[in-house]
Amino acid sequence: MLGQDLIAAASAAGHEVVGFSRGELDITDADAVTTAVRSARPDVVVNCAAWTDVDGAERDEAGAAAVNGAGAGNVARAAAARGAWTIHVSSDYVFDGAKRLPYLESDDVGPLSGYGRSKLAGERAVANAAPGWHTVVRSSWLFGTGGSCFPATILRLAGEREELKVVDDQVGCPTFTGHLAPALVEIGGREARPAGVVHLAGQGVCSWYEFAREIVVRAGLSCEVKPCTTADMPRPAPRPAYSVLRSERDDEVPVLPDWRAGLAEYMAAVPVAGAR
Ligand SMILES: NC(=O)c1ccc[n+]([C@@H]2O[C@H](COP(=O)([O-])OP(=O)(O)OC[C@H]3O[C@@H](n4cnc5c(N)ncnc54)[C@H](OP(=O)(O)O)[C@@H]3O)[C@@H](O)[C@H]2O)c1
Repeated sequence: MLGQDLIAAASAAGHEVVGFSRGELDITDADAVTTAVRSARPDVVVNCAAWTDVDGAERDEAGAAAVNGAGAGNVARAAAARGAWTIHVSSDYVFDGAKRLPYLESDDVGPLSGYGRSKLAGERAVANAAPGWHTVVRSSWLFGTGGSCFPATILRLAGEREELKVVDDQVGCPTFTGHLAPALVEIGGREARPAGVVHLAGQGVCSWYEFAREIVVRAGLSCEVKPCTTADMPRPAPRPAYSVLRSERDDEVPVLPDWRAGLAEYMAAVPVAGAR
């Protein structure tokens, strides 16, 4: 999802872009990654590849860690060997969600799930493989036109059902990949890129319930959206109850638009079935 928007944003900014699908490059294969980076000869490598099945990572944490941990390290090592800067995308799920003020880059991490642990392992693998030569961008609640995402699921279900229950006790920052991607390109294009961890998420804060309600209202669907608790809808992987990301960095980290602006762009780009 993010990778497709990133290729479009980098091309639109005038960069020469080489993109790899999973079928073309498996990042768990260190030799293949080295060969791919050598032949592309990039200035910047952006790793959008990940195991993103959060519940699946509870069943197979080793599988998630191979991609999100070791695989991320393979990408950063190959980039550093070629003198290219690594931009690595990480997640709000590295936090435990116990805070009630926005998470800053300096806050302690404490992942609750196998997915979160695998993403944290990736951050550390990147830092070890490309010390001082990388940006780890933590983002959250991604949605976009290039993949399956929460708004797509809600639009489908709301078109089929009269009532939907959505959790109201998990709060975060939805982030439109159409906004995140150009920000990553902007960071990559700088002469002085921000090193280390950067928080980059949509402005504004909501619960999944509030997000869903906004989607259904904007789509003009008649489905009623009702709030419920996480306990009402048990899932294999625990999620942070609060994972609002904000940046404390003073080196001009980009500020993304509000998530509602992202949703408006998303809704303009996707067809809505069953709208009134
Ligand atoms: N989605 C979110 O809500 C969210 C939130 C915060 C951070 N992030 C992070 O943002 C980044 C982009 O996420 P996204 O939502 O764009 O994910 P996505 O749509 O699931 O894309 C991830 C891509 O990685 C590929 N991939 C999986 N294993 C691979 C491997 N071993 N080698 C190469 N490619 C592999 C997947 O291929 P297949 O489809 O064939 O498996 C898929 O094309 C990820 O780092 C993710 O952890 C996502």
